[in-house]
Amino acid sequence: MPAELMVRAGEKEYPVLVGKGTYEEAVPGIMRRLKPACVSVVSHPALQEMHGGALEKAIIEGLPSSGRIIWFTFPEGEENKTLVTVMAGYRFLLEKGFTREDLVLAFGGGVVGDLAGFLAATYMRGVRYLQLPTTLMSMVDSSIGGKTGVDLPEGKNIVGCFHHPEAVIADVSVLATLPGREVLNGLAEVAKYGFLYDPEILREMEGWPEGRPGGEYDFAPLVRRCAAHKARVVGEDERDLRGIRALLNYGHTFGHALEAALGYRMLRHGEAVALGMIMASRLAEWSGLARTPLVERHLRVLLPLLREVPRPLNISSREILRFMEADKKKGQALRFVLLKDWQSPVLVESLASDLVEEAVQESLRDLSEGE
Ligand SMILES: NC(=O)c1ccc[n+]([C@@H]2O[C@H](COP(=O)([O-])OP(=O)(O)OC[C@H]3O[C@@H](n4cnc5c(N)ncnc54)[C@H](O)[C@@H]3O)[C@@H](O)[C@H]2O)c1
Ligand SMILES: [Zn+2]
Repeated sequence: MPAELMVRAGEKEYPVLVGKGTYEEAVPGIMRRLKPACVSVVSHPALQEMHGGALEKAIIEGLPSSGRIIWFTFPEGEENKTLVTVMAGYRFLLEKGFTREDLVLAFGGGVVGDLAGFLAATYMRGVRYLQLPTTLMSMVDSSIGGKTGVDLPEGKNIVGCFHHPEAVIADVSVLATLPGREVLNGLAEVAKYGFLYDPEILREMEGWPEGRPGGEYDFAPLVRRCAAHKARVVGEDERDLRGIRALLNYGHTFGHALEAALGYRMLRHGEAVALGMIMASRLAEWSGLARTPLVERHLRVLLPLLREVPRPLNISSREILRFMEADKKKGQALRFVLLKDWQSPVLVESLASDLVEEAVQESLRDLSEGE
């Protein structure tokens, strides 16, 4: 039986299930409870091909014989997380006679989850949906918490809203097909929970001989642990207004600037965040905020996750700073999450920009020297 944890978000409460074989175990029951006449699975063609069969079987088991499953698939990649894809989704649902009583299933990584969640939030003023995350990143982070949305050419996640799923169901057996670099990508967010909240996670990561888990590794306990942190934080600060959910942005101020400066190619989000956490650890030490040395352990845990990053990155600390300044001009305060100590994060607003730039520069050097 998979362990169950609950997300409490305002009036709404929903379960997060993590385990092996959770589709089979949990999906039929959810279908019987929600009673949709039509289930629209939003996904990518390759995922439908690889794992769609097992999912369909579980859905059918809980649907009445008149029930229907319709697949809306779109090509992979952040570049398809757009209103153009959402529009195609609206038209598809309308044409298939999908109604407000029906159910959307987000079956994929964060790209599918964010887009399908937004589609569900806005189609006919909002329909119910489930998150079925299939990447490590989406299992430990993006599927929980109700943030949905799409990108504009001007920036990521500019259009979106809060819309919580009815349930999050993570079946870790699908991770068997996840490409290695995507595993490393998700592990960066895992490490983030370690630095922010959970010494056990760091200890486990430090025990992996090559800085990543071996082939037969069972991800369920680790995913469950991270999902519990995310669920707790969302419960304490659902709308990201109290400075609690904002702490989950550890490494992200640097990370977002890195991603943007590199045109969202070159680096996966988690890789950018890993580098960003290294930068933040330096900044915490140099600014005198940290009461303990931080950098060395950050490098030990995070550099192995950056092994597939193409080198050199061909980016200067100046350019990265420029992107951070650009965010500031758009009215977003330039805030850093820094550690005073292990598992002791704070939000910091004003820092000398030459110190920030030096932290960036030094960490880029670590990357080019590491592995
Ligand atoms: N809503 C939130 O709170 C939140 C939080 C963090 C990130 N995000 C968003 O998440 C997105 C990134 O998500 P991601 O890292 O999961 O990337 P992704 O969704 O692009 O997935 C990465 C790749 O892995 C493939 N894939 C997925 N599952 C697979 C499997 N089981 N086997 C083989 N291949 C598989 C996908 O098709 C894709 O090509 C970004 O758009 C980001 O903005 C949202
Ligand atoms: Zn992130």
